[in-house]
Amino acid sequence: MPIPASPRAVVTGAAAGLGRELCLALAKRGAKIIVSDRDLAGAQETARLVRQAGGSAHAVACDVSKREEVEQLACLAEQCFGGTDLLINNAGVLVSGTVGEIPLREWEWIMNINLWGVIYGCHVFAPRLQAQGSGHILNVASAAGLLCLPGMGPYNVTKAAVIALSETLRGELQRHGVGVTALCPTFFQTNILRSGHSHMPDSNLELEAAQRSQQSKLQAADIARIALAACERNELYAVPMSDGRWSWRLKRLTPEGFFNLMPRALQYAQARRKKSRVS
Ligand SMILES: NC(=O)c1ccc[n+]([C@@H]2O[C@H](COP(=O)([O-])OP(=O)(O)OC[C@H]3O[C@@H](n4cnc5c(N)ncnc54)[C@H](O)[C@@H]3O)[C@@H](O)[C@H]2O)c1
Repeated sequence: MPIPASPRAVVTGAAAGLGRELCLALAKRGAKIIVSDRDLAGAQETARLVRQAGGSAHAVACDVSKREEVEQLACLAEQCFGGTDLLINNAGVLVSGTVGEIPLREWEWIMNINLWGVIYGCHVFAPRLQAQGSGHILNVASAAGLLCLPGMGPYNVTKAAVIALSETLRGELQRHGVGVTALCPTFFQTNILRSGHSHMPDSNLELEAAQRSQQSKLQAADIARIALAACERNELYAVPMSDGRWSWRLKRLTPEGFFNLMPRALQYAQARRKKSRVS
């Protein structure tokens, strides 16, 4: 749905990385933003940058794994700005490792943030947007949720579920004038690898992820701009990177072929990178 001029937005996980860049991209449109994160100091810094860039901002501590704190975001948006035009469920963490090696408490940790955080956001805001007859929900998923590559089971599961939730909401909210977009980037540089929990017996995958993040042609600011443009066009899927788009296309064309090919392709890519590091 077209985002109105000076939209009223609520952004989770906005103290750093993509969340901060989404706020700054919105600030350029004169947005009024509830800048939320479990890291209040970081959220306050984002709010300061938003004001500097021409927007209005109110920083608040919110742990998205706590339902009452997400409910408070909606109340705060109503008090401060009279409602919400755009909800961005962005907060997210990473757990890497193989299924069976990763302790169950890590599954619970990531599910509570990446999945329950988004469920709470949609549960709280969807009825409000529906009653208003306008607005948009941007769920930050990942290409991991489309491709489900080895070594990131818990992350893949949460992001695939966020995509499923976004697809469901699209069917439910479209006729009420409310749009939904699932954002599915591949790796780009932020704090996510540093703040994530790793359970890899050898760290090849992490090295690979770190290298791919560093080599990404798109930075968080580019992804933020692309995501807002996708909301504007009311696209259900926003897949900013070409490697993500090609891999997803291949998977839809030949799902089993994709999963037979992918481990070998990953091994080949890792070996090539290792070789180029040695030489
Ligand atoms: N960086 C990538 O390569 C990449 C790729 C695809 C998708 N994503 C997604 O982008 C989103 C943003 O991640 P990022 O890359 O900017 O990482 P980041 O670590 O730089 O930022 C994540 C933010 O979320 C906050 N956060 C973590 N747990 C929280 C909680 N329980 N409640 C509220 N806030 C919390 C952190 O404090 C941090 O400010 C995530 O959903 C992530 O899965 C990132």
